[in-house]
Order: sequence, then structure tokens, then C-alpha cells
Amino acid sequence: MNAPTRAVTLVGIGDDGCLGLTSRAVGAVSRAAVLVGGERHLAFFPQFAGERIALRGGLTAILDRVAALAEDQNVCILASGDPLFFGVGRRVIARLGAPHVEIIPQPSSMQLAFARAGLDWGDAALLSVHGRSLDGLVTRLARLAKVALLTDDEHSPPRIAAQMIEYGEAAWTAWVCERLGGADERVRQLPLAELALVSDVDPLNVLILVRTDTAWRAPPTIPFLHEDAFARRTPKKGLITKREIRLLTLGAMALRRDSVVWDVGAGSGSIAIEAAMLAPEGRTYAIEVDPEGVALCRANARELGVDNVHVIPGLAPDALADLPAPDAVFIGGSKGSMTAIVDVALARLRPGGRLVVNAITLENAAEVYQALRGRDLVPDVTLVQIARAEPLARYLRYEALNPIQIFAVTAPSRPVPEAR
Ligand SMILES: C[S@@+](CC[C@H](N)C(=O)[O-])C[C@H]1O[C@@H](n2cnc3c(N)ncnc32)[C@H](O)[C@@H]1O
Repeated sequence: MNAPTRAVTLVGIGDDGCLGLTSRAVGAVSRAAVLVGGERHLAFFPQFAGERIALRGGLTAILDRVAALAEDQNVCILASGDPLFFGVGRRVIARLGAPHVEIIPQPSSMQLAFARAGLDWGDAALLSVHGRSLDGLVTRLARLAKVALLTDDEHSPPRIAAQMIEYGEAAWTAWVCERLGGADERVRQLPLAELALVSDVDPLNVLILVRTDTAWRAPPTIPFLHEDAFARRTPKKGLITKREIRLLTLGAMALRRDSVVWDVGAGSGSIAIEAAMLAPEGRTYAIEVDPEGVALCRANARELGVDNVHVIPGLAPDALADLPAPDAVFIGGSKGSMTAIVDVALARLRPGGRLVVNAITLENAAEVYQALRGRDLVPDVTLVQIARAEPLARYLRYEALNPIQIFAVTAPSRPVPEAR
């Protein structure tokens, strides 16, 4: 493309202000009658004589105004780094349409951070916790060896380091890259344990994390954790789901990376924890009434490095009332309220979501089957009989595990009929 012909130009700018701008970007600003941007960015252009609009709060209203002004004037919007990288670009294009916006990017803050650290970034995962929750960050990091993060005041590098250490991800080196491109730029390389104690990080920063263990390999894609990996309750309080059964159960739940999951009657948390590993960008809720189970769910999640399991102490169905709508519900324990829990699950599941129930007793199986048929739902039912080879003297012989019935249905998109 030659000279810009579009009424709105989105100019990426670094912390060095006008100094780092290309002549094309400078031309766009000088042709503009209206300059839009954050206070910090507008301050780089004290000589600008046209109208200034500061970006603060309600972006929708500002973009409506920009759209109106752009009918007959050149408007230039300033944004940091590459405006289409976790920036304002997506909203500007959604409002005005790509054909009406010219984008002139600067190097992203992340690109500058890798340049300062002297690290290749082709194999890095690029994430943002800027204005987002830290939930699940450690679960996601479990599969990564090199990461860069956009942070903010609340989700700061020391807080991230503390959360990583709490969940057992301590063997990383950090580069904290502050005010990149500016006169007061600072880049510090330090071990994670030291970063957790630092108190003077500028909110404008990029955090790079690299594993220190060069022999590290990502964990298996399918968790398949042995029961011995979990601290367990006394057997008379409930049995832990065996790993072979967990595999089939989690498969039936049709989990996606961003699924919201309810594990009702979570026990020691084995289903919830593996679900959270498979859905690191989602949220898993482990609902458990027994205080010992609640403590075990929390301890097991921490021990296994999973920071996206939220343990909800209480009895279902009442304890489900305030949880976000799920994509998958697993019922492993119902304390006599199976029908009521199935009703709540079917009412709250998102269309296409999955309800999966494991029944050991004939009574439980009858209850869930009747609850589903009474609502015109025919479940997939799998009777699973597993036998594991166990040592007997110098031989191996099979030892049968409890038979389990797995009931699974897809939530209908129409309202579920009242029970008959
Ligand atoms: C909304 S994002 C915008 C990212 C931007 N589009 C880019 O490509 O750099 C804002 C975050 O970018 C990072 N950031 C922006 N400018 C920076 C700078 N000069 N130095 C360090 N980090 C910066 C900070 O983490 C900040 O919280």
C-alpha cells in the first residue's frame, strides 16, 4: 500500500515516544485533525494543535465518537506497541471495519523484552494476565518451557512468582523488563524465589520465564494419574475413582481447554484435578461436603500443581446455586439427592454440555437412569469391568476392580421437560 488513504490510522508507539516512530507514523499524526490516546501517549505530542481525546473508561462511547469524526476528518489513534497484540486494535476494527483503519505497528513490548534478554522468541508462548485472572496460570505453565507475560499492577511479576512457587513450579529464571524503550528502561534477570520478594516493579512491564532444567519434558497430554498420586480419605468414606475409570469418565465429559466443569461429590478431587489439567483455560469447581475431603481436594490440587480447581464446601444441589453455568458436570457422589442434582445439572448446563454420572451401587444406577428417562433422555451407558495384573509370588494374576456404570448424556438445547 502507498500513502495512507483511510480516515482512521492506528499508530503503535513505544515508551520512547516520537523518537521511535517511522516517518509514515509521524506523517499520519501530522495529517490528523483529531488525536486519540492514553494520557501517557498524548503527552508525547505537546505541539499537536488539533482536537485531543483521552482514552479513559468507556471505550465504546469514544469509538462511536471517533466513527462520527472520521466521516470528514483524519483521526489518529495512539496505542502501545503493536495495537493488534493484546491491544485496542481489535475493538477499533470491530467498530469501524478493517477497510477503514490503517495500522502502523511498532515492535511489541514482548518483542523488545526478548531482544533485551537476548532470547529467541519463536518457541515462546505469549500470554497476558493484564486485566485477567491468574487462575490456571500454573496449570498452563506445566506444559511450557519458555513464556512471556503481559502483566498489570494487580497481577504483578512478584505475585505470579509467589503463585508458581506455591504450586510447585519454582525452577524458572525470570526476566523482568520494565518501561521498555523509555529513558528509565530496566531489565533484571533473577531466580523465581528472588522475584517473589521484589517490591519495586513498574506496572509497565513484560515478564519472561524460562525453565532452568534443560532436561525437562512436558508431562503426558492425557494425565492418567495413579490413585497413589493423590492423598486419600479413609476407604469407608468413599473410594477414589481408579485411573482407568477416570480416563473414560473424562472422555465422556467432552472437555475442551476452556471448559467450566462441576465435579459434584469430589472426594479427594481426582476427577476435578485431571479435568482442570485438561481444561487449563477453564475453571473446575469441586463440590464436597466432608471437611476432610475439602482439605484433601485443596492439598492434592496444590501438590499436583493445578491452580484452577475451586473447592466449594457444601452439599449439592444447594451448593451449586452460585456457580457459573457448566460445560460438563460429573456426579461422583450425591448423598441421596441424585434426582435433584441431575435436575440442577440439566437446567444449568450450557447447550451441548455433558452430564456424566458414575454409579457403583444398583440403587444409584437405578436412580440416575430413572431420573434421565423421566426427562425423556436416553443416556449412553457403559458397564466397565477392569482387572489389573498384580504380583502373586513371582507371577502376575488379575485382580478385578469394582464394576462401574458410566451414564452420559448431552444437555438438550430445548428446556428439559418436568419429571413424569
Ligand atoms: C494492553 S497491553 C498492550 C500491549 C501492546 N499492544 C504491545 O504490543 O506491547 C499493555 C501491557 O503491555 C506491556 N507494555 C506496554 N508497553 C510497555 C513497555 N514500554 N515496557 C514494558 N511493558 C510494556 C505491559 O505489560 C502492559 O501492562
